[in-house]
Amino acid sequence: MNYNKKTVKDVDVKGKKVLLRCDFNVPQDKATGAITDDKRIRAALPTIQYLLDQGAAVIACSHLGKPEPSFDKWAKKQAEKGKDPASLTKEKWEKTLEALCMDPVAKRLSKLLGKDVILAGDVVGPDAQAKAAALQPGQIMLLQNTRFEKGETKNDPELAKAMAGLAGEDGVYVSDAFGAVHRAHASTAGVAAHLPAVSGFLIQKELEFIGGALADPKRPLVAILGGSKVSSKIGVINNLLEIADTIIIGGGMAYTFAKAQGGTVGDSLLESDWLDYCNEMVAKAKEKGVKLLLPVDTVIADAFDPNANSQVVKNGQIPDSWQGLDIGPETVKLYCDAVKDAGTVIWNGPMGVFEFEKFAVGTKAVAEALSKTSAITIIGGGDSAAAVQQLGYAAQMTHISTGGGASLEFMEGKELPGVACLLDK
Ligand code: 3PG
Repeated sequence: MNYNKKTVKDVDVKGKKVLLRCDFNVPQDKATGAITDDKRIRAALPTIQYLLDQGAAVIACSHLGKPEPSFDKWAKKQAEKGKDPASLTKEKWEKTLEALCMDPVAKRLSKLLGKDVILAGDVVGPDAQAKAAALQPGQIMLLQNTRFEKGETKNDPELAKAMAGLAGEDGVYVSDAFGAVHRAHASTAGVAAHLPAVSGFLIQKELEFIGGALADPKRPLVAILGGSKVSSKIGVINNLLEIADTIIIGGGMAYTFAKAQGGTVGDSLLESDWLDYCNEMVAKAKEKGVKLLLPVDTVIADAFDPNANSQVVKNGQIPDSWQGLDIGPETVKLYCDAVKDAGTVIWNGPMGVFEFEKFAVGTKAVAEALSKTSAITIIGGGDSAAAVQQLGYAAQMTHISTGGGASLEFMEGKELPGVACLLDK
């Protein structure tokens, strides 16, 4: 995939309407709807501010959550989950949509920008059309949740055309929704068929760091892969075995590797279907000359509980009714040494259950080691980004990705539809 894409700086937006796809899919408090973390809104500010300063009229849009835009489909899904069909009323469905309206996002964006954000009552309906037509240079509006439209997730060409139409004949499409570039949806990809399409600063940065690390890394390239499941990291391990010099395995998935190598793992997380795969990866690493580091010891607990009794045992020697929740001290030393002289480190997935203080030691030690190395440090989104933030090391990292699924698919070497559709430089 070509990562060298045109950016907002390569097009003239003065006096033009810009359809700007953001990833404003922010977490909200279930009871009050209040935004609990506005990082994603903040991440889009440089591009928004630049476009406004250039004299563009900005029509921002994003999805929020996973609303079901068809009542029938919603009712069917709820019934499949065991809900009483008689309780599945239109009012209830409408409430689920209401909870995913863009109103809180518009308010927060307005506060962060220090200017009015005009909120449309629909995506491509009469209200959005009227407000877009009246929008003046230097003004910004926000469309309703793009997933309220049935055609959005199907990448419906008619919807894409209607969205592009809001920006008019000489409009421009700017995508800064890195978190959603792995989705081939109408607002993330389809729309690019109708307008000149370029990236915002956020996507540019993600392409530069993650793309750079994959295409032409400063070596040695060390990849640290953790998290609970081998099955969710297969693509990443496979791809990185072609690129990295060292791959470090930690987190819950290390127990499947331990079992595959003949160890006992007690009640630890285990994906029995993936044992052969683990052995294949160990063999592939050998064949490719990639150093594959597995834990040598592990911190085990007698329950999945923040205050569980714990002890350190050798890897693959976990007694019955105990479970591994963190890498052990010898492993910490081994892994921290491995990143010391790295040129680039990519980290995706925590080393243990970092949400429990007692079992956050391994993840914290790795984060600290990264904060001290002179390597380019790239943190994949999702859990590893949360861990680095929570443990207080965010400021010392070179780049923390804003994409969860998107950064994972990027590291898997997959083509990202929301990037592929942008104009090459
Ligand atoms: C995310 O939260 O990872 C992005 O906003 C994409 O959301 P999705 O998984 O609902 O497509």
